[in-house]
Amino acid sequence: MGAIKISSVGKVYPNGTRALEDVNIEINDGEFVVLVGPSGCGKTTLLRMVAGLEDITEGEISIANTIVNEVALKIETLQWFFKIMLYILICLFMTIWLFHLNYVKYQKMKLIKK
Ligand SMILES: Nc1ncnc2c1ncn2[C@@H]1O[C@H](COP(=O)(O)OP(=O)(O)O)[C@@H](O)[C@H]1O
Ligand SMILES: [Mg+2]
Repeated sequence: MGAIKISSVGKVYPNGTRALEDVNIEINDGEFVVLVGPSGCGKTTLLRMVAGLEDITEGEISIANTIVNEVALKIETLQWFFKIMLYILICLFMTIWLFHLNYVKYQKMKLIKK
């Protein structure tokens, strides 16, 4: 998989909570690491940051020499793209559906007039 390098990593959540400060860990290929600490010390936050699920507010995380700070940003952009495409599709579908409903109403009115 490649080495994981966590350099001077810190995390401040949007609500101002500081979860991590100046974390430095280097895990080489094939090494086995266990994160131990009291509840609330930031274990989950760190793992989520390594997985690219949480943005990295301070420092740098690299996996196999690829900085994942940027990967997380790319994933976010991609998520936005798909969300916007979904909204456009929904709008399109609604427009077509409304057109169909109007058409049905028009046909019914024609029948009533007859
Ligand atoms: N989404 C969040 N928003 C704000 N604060 C958070 C959030 N998630 C975790 N925290 C805070 O960050 C700190 C570290 O939490 P966490 O990473 O869950 O610790 P652990 O997994 O070691 O128990 C705690 O003080 C927690 O309250
Ligand atoms: Mg946890």
